[in-house]
Amino acid sequence: MRHWNRRKPIELDALGAEHRLVPTLSWWHLTALGVGAIVGTGIYTLVGVGANLAGPSVILSFAVAGLVCACAALCYAEVATAIPASGSAYTYSYVVIGELIAWIIGWSLILEYSLVVSAVAVGWSGYVNGFLSGFGLHLPVAFAVGPHAGGVINLPAVFIVFVVAGMLALGTRESATVNAILVVVKIVALALFVAVALPHFDLARFHPFTPYGFIAHDVDGTQRGVMAAAAIIFFAFYGFDAISTAAEETKKPERDLPIGIVGSMAICTLIYVGVAAAAVGSMSYLDYANSAEPLALILRRLGQDGVAVVIGAAAVVALPTVILAFLFGQSRIFFVMARDGLLPRSLAKVSARSGTPVRITMATAVLVAILAGLVPLDAIAALANAGTLAAFIAVAACMLLMRRRDPNANRRFSTPLPWVVGPLAILGCLYLFWSLPTQTRLFFLGWNVLGFIVYAVLSRKSAETSPSA
Ligand code: ALA
Repeated sequence: MRHWNRRKPIELDALGAEHRLVPTLSWWHLTALGVGAIVGTGIYTLVGVGANLAGPSVILSFAVAGLVCACAALCYAEVATAIPASGSAYTYSYVVIGELIAWIIGWSLILEYSLVVSAVAVGWSGYVNGFLSGFGLHLPVAFAVGPHAGGVINLPAVFIVFVVAGMLALGTRESATVNAILVVVKIVALALFVAVALPHFDLARFHPFTPYGFIAHDVDGTQRGVMAAAAIIFFAFYGFDAISTAAEETKKPERDLPIGIVGSMAICTLIYVGVAAAAVGSMSYLDYANSAEPLALILRRLGQDGVAVVIGAAAVVALPTVILAFLFGQSRIFFVMARDGLLPRSLAKVSARSGTPVRITMATAVLVAILAGLVPLDAIAALANAGTLAAFIAVAACMLLMRRRDPNANRRFSTPLPWVVGPLAILGCLYLFWSLPTQTRLFFLGWNVLGFIVYAVLSRKSAETSPSA
């Protein structure tokens, strides 16, 4: 029987072995998982989109989005160590606020994780197509891009989703180790970009610094300004929240989670500021504003074709780490929601052989592969951001509520200045949400209305079948 305001107790030990996840991960797995999830399409591709929306002040957009994410990351670290259970913002909201809000957040997370996996798969496909073209190999257009770009289905995107899902189904630990190696490739490639682009740096390219001003506003049908770019660039920063979905599989959550979340966040912020400054300073942003592969384009224009190939190859090899982390997170959200009885329970079985929820992982893969095969990249990021912002707001609210209910609790990790950081995270996320395109905000609203309907239907069904009804 369901109750909209019921709160979930933390009762891991009461669960049968069949429904427990195996603790195999440590802090370095989590940091690698975090960097693997954070550095992806955002910096490799959306840096051009951001520059198009804000001009050289895209640097400022990175700083704003990074600051909001840093505040949210600190709230995550505190809540994730207090509630070391799978399910991320969904589980935290269920424990701290109540079932209905938890359902809405779970519903938003399903949107976020699916769209991120799909977007990065489509971005990966773009790099693969470009990379193969360099060797004279061209996939037929019908199978290289989705219907929006004149194709039928984006087959490379579908392919990569299933490859990564297969890796996850083989076992979490192995996947995380492969992920760690690929993370290094991704970081080295970005460092190479900065090293090669920096000698061409010219401060004059930063003038005018804010051609579209600060506040997001409509310019010829497009939201522009520092905040409009920040609302999209935000995509580049998140991923650390995927780490908290691994809490139940972590050996020492009180030590490993804060290191993983805050550490990966700090590393990525440094990298982004470096890459964005090198990009803006080495070439007029107008030249790569609409490119599908801005970093490679800049290098080619600088006469560094060889390095451009290396960056492209690194993206092809390493972007799947982002897919890995979000597919992992997505399958866990489904798994925990099913285990809680908010989705059909039969989905929540852990395979005895690999210790992972294979059935739910593959079901998730089918869903995101369909999206990746058919849906365009550009609008996807904005919508994924909307779902993520809702989850971040919920986690910051959970942190503040827990502080108010029990101010003197012995916390494994304490957010510094919680009454400044928490409200900053909430207000920052609200401002970013408000800066998203109107269409995105409306679609997000529609998605949540659909969520309410599904909740109401499932509640009615569960009331009908419940013996106490
Ligand atoms: N932060 C991730 C990326 O940029 C989602 O691809």
